[in-house]
Amino acid sequence: MAILGQPIDRIDGRLKVTGAARYAAEFAVPDLVHAVLVESTIGAGQITDFDLTEAQAMPGVIAIVTPQNAIRLSDKKGSQQTVHAPLLQDMEVHYNGQHIAVVVADTFDRATAAAARVRAQYQPGEPVTRMESALDQAYAPKHFRNGSRPPDSRRGDPDTTFATGAVRVQATYVTPIENHNPMEPHATIARWDGDKLTVWHATQGISGTQQSLAALFGIDAQNVRVICPFVGGGFGCKGNTWPPAVLAAMAAKIVGRPVKLVVTRAQMFTSNGYRPETIQKLSFAASADGRLVSMRHDGFSQMSMPALGEYSEPVGLPTEMLYDCVNVAVTHRLVPTNASLPTYMRAPGEAPGNFALESAIDELAAGLRIDPIDFRLRNYAERDPHENKPFASKALRACYAMGADAFGWLRRNPVPRSMRNGRYLVGMGMATSTYPTHRMPADARVQLGANGVALVQVGSQDLGTGTYTVMAQTAAAALGLPVGRVRVELGDSNLPKAPVSGGSMTVASVGPAVLAAAQSVRAKLFDMARADRWQGAPDDALRLADGAVFGPDGRMPIAELMARRGIDAVDATAHAEQGPEKDQYSMHAFGAQFAEVWVDPDLGEVRIRRYVGAFDCGHVLNAKTARSQLIGGIVYGIGMALLEQTHVDEETGRVVNSNISEYLVPVNADVPSIEAIIVPSDDRLSNSLGAKGIGELPMVGVAAAVANAVWHATGVRVRRLPIRVEDMLAS
Ligand code: MOS
Repeated sequence: MAILGQPIDRIDGRLKVTGAARYAAEFAVPDLVHAVLVESTIGAGQITDFDLTEAQAMPGVIAIVTPQNAIRLSDKKGSQQTVHAPLLQDMEVHYNGQHIAVVVADTFDRATAAAARVRAQYQPGEPVTRMESALDQAYAPKHFRNGSRPPDSRRGDPDTTFATGAVRVQATYVTPIENHNPMEPHATIARWDGDKLTVWHATQGISGTQQSLAALFGIDAQNVRVICPFVGGGFGCKGNTWPPAVLAAMAAKIVGRPVKLVVTRAQMFTSNGYRPETIQKLSFAASADGRLVSMRHDGFSQMSMPALGEYSEPVGLPTEMLYDCVNVAVTHRLVPTNASLPTYMRAPGEAPGNFALESAIDELAAGLRIDPIDFRLRNYAERDPHENKPFASKALRACYAMGADAFGWLRRNPVPRSMRNGRYLVGMGMATSTYPTHRMPADARVQLGANGVALVQVGSQDLGTGTYTVMAQTAAAALGLPVGRVRVELGDSNLPKAPVSGGSMTVASVGPAVLAAAQSVRAKLFDMARADRWQGAPDDALRLADGAVFGPDGRMPIAELMARRGIDAVDATAHAEQGPEKDQYSMHAFGAQFAEVWVDPDLGEVRIRRYVGAFDCGHVLNAKTARSQLIGGIVYGIGMALLEQTHVDEETGRVVNSNISEYLVPVNADVPSIEAIIVPSDDRLSNSLGAKGIGELPMVGVAAAVANAVWHATGVRVRRLPIRVEDMLAS
C-alpha cells in the first residue's frame, strides 16, 4: 500500500507523550540565568526616569536592562520580516503592557520578584483604546501583503449596480481582538560565544529568526544558530521574531552568560501579536434569480501606533475571488490605537473576512428564499474572477455535495425558527471556506545509508502539525522504505533552509524539496546499478525497495552497490520552488462548513450539537494528521464563533482578561462530534505532491456557519462576534 496518505501515527508521538521531546525552555544550558520582562502600567506617554534602587538590592539580581543602558541595535529589519519595537531603544510608551525593562537574576523567582520592584516614572499621555472612536484616523496600509499588491481593488461598477439588486444587504460586521494562546508560551534561551549567538527558541520560522537576530545585532547570519526541534503550537504568534527573543539575546550579551526568557501567559497578550479587531462594512446585492450583481467590502482593521510597524488584516481577499460577480470593490484601512502590534492569526484575513462575506451571502439567499447552497452554486466561480485565471484545482462543488449529504442538509426547513427539539430552537447553517495555496522555496537533504536507514534534514519546524511524520512518509515513498527506517531532523538553522511554517505552506514548500532530494538519491542508486549490471536500463525498468535496486532479472542490494565503491551512504540535496504555474493559475483550497446549533429560548445559550466540514485540501499525505488539523481548525473556529474575545479596558488600554480562564477557548463540553470529510483532490499544478494547505482552511467559514445556524434557529442575525447570550435574549 502506498505510504503517502496512510493515517500513520506521528513518528514523534512517543517522544511527546513521554515528555522526552525537548521544547525551547527545556534545554539544559550550563551557567544559565533568568530574565523577566517588566511592562508599562500606562497606555501612552513617556518614561521620564527609572528608580531601580529597590530592585537592584534584591537577592540574586545580576542586571537590569532599561532603555537607559540597553544595547543600541544596528537595524530594525530582518530580511524576511520586520522586528518591531519595543526593543528598549527609547523612552516612548505606545501601549499598556509594553516591555520597558528586563531583569536578570540567578533564578526565575528572584528575577520575578525583582521585576515587581522596578519603578518607572511616567509622563502619561491619553491612550486611544477603542477602534470605534478612532475610525476618522483610518489610513491605507503602506505595505499591504508585503507590498505585493494595493490594499484596494475594484472591478466593474458595484456602486451603480447595487441599486439594481432585487435584494440588498447593507450591514456592518465586527470581529474582536483574539489572542492565539498556544500551549507553549514564547520562550528563548540565548547564549553568546564571542560574536556567535545560539538561541533555543520557540518559533514557527527558524530561518526568519536567524536573519532577524543577525540584522539586529549587526552580525552575519552564519553566526546565529537557531534551534527549535519542537513547538507547542503557534497559530501565527510565533511567525515573526518578537521583542522577547531579541531582549533575551540582548540580556545575554550584557551579562555575559546564557539567559532564559519565558514569556508569562499574561505577557503573551502584549508580546507577540494578536488578531486585530475588524469592522467590516458590506454592501451586497443580488438579482431576483439569485445572481450577485454588486459586492462592496470595506474593511477596517485595528492597528497599533505606526511606530511599532504595520499589520493589516486582509479581510476582503475572499470577497474578491470566491464568487462569480462582475462588480466588486474591496478596500482595506488601518485604525491606529494604543495597543501592541497585531499579527497573523490562523487564517489571517480569511477568518474574519469570511465571517462577514458568508453572513451577507446567507442574508441575500434568505432574502430571495433561495437555499443557501443553491445560491452559492448560482454564483460559483469557475475561474478566479479577481486574478482572471483558471483555478489550479477546485473541488468546491464536491465539498458542498458531500458535506450536505453527511450533514443531512435536506432535512432543513428553510423557515427560520421553524425547527425545534423539545424546548430548544434548532438551527442549521452553512458557509463556504477558502484559503490560498501558498508556497515558498525550500531546500532539503536526504541521505540513504548502506544499512537501509534514511536521514532527512530540513531547516523547517514542526508546529505540532505533523511535519516530522509526513516528511518521513514522503522520503519513505520515494526510497521504497518503511517509515520506521526514515529519521527526520528539523528545527536547526544549520540544516538546509526552509520557509516559515505559516500560511499553511509547509507541506507544499518543504515536501517537494524532500521528494526531489529522495528521488535524486534514488537516481544515483539507479545509475550505480546500471553501471554494475543493467546498462542502459530505463528508469521504469528499475525499482528501489527493501534496501535493494530491483532490475529486469533480480536485485542488487544497495549495501553491495555502495561497498563496491567504498562508500557507506548516498546523499543528495535539492532545492524546490514554485514554477511558472503560479502565473497561469489561481491556487486555493476550498471547503464547505455545516453547523447545527440548539438555542435555549429562555437562557439564550447557544450550543453546537453537530458539525460537518468537507474540504478540498489537495492530496493528503497522512489522513490522520490531516484529520487532526481539520478538526483542530474547526474547534478554533468554534472559539471564534462563540467564545474568544480579548477585552481591553477603555480607560487604561490594559488587557483585562490576559489569562485562559477569562479568555474563553473551547473546552470539550463546547465541542460536539465533528465530522471532517476529505474530498478527493490532487493539485499537481501547485506542487509535485499535489497538496494544498490544511492548517488554516478548516478555521475559515466556521463562524459564519454558526451565525447562519443561529439565525436559522432564532431569526436573529448576529453580526458581531463572539455570539453571546445577550444577543439571543435581545430578540
Ligand atoms: Mo499562520 S497565522 O500563517 O501561522
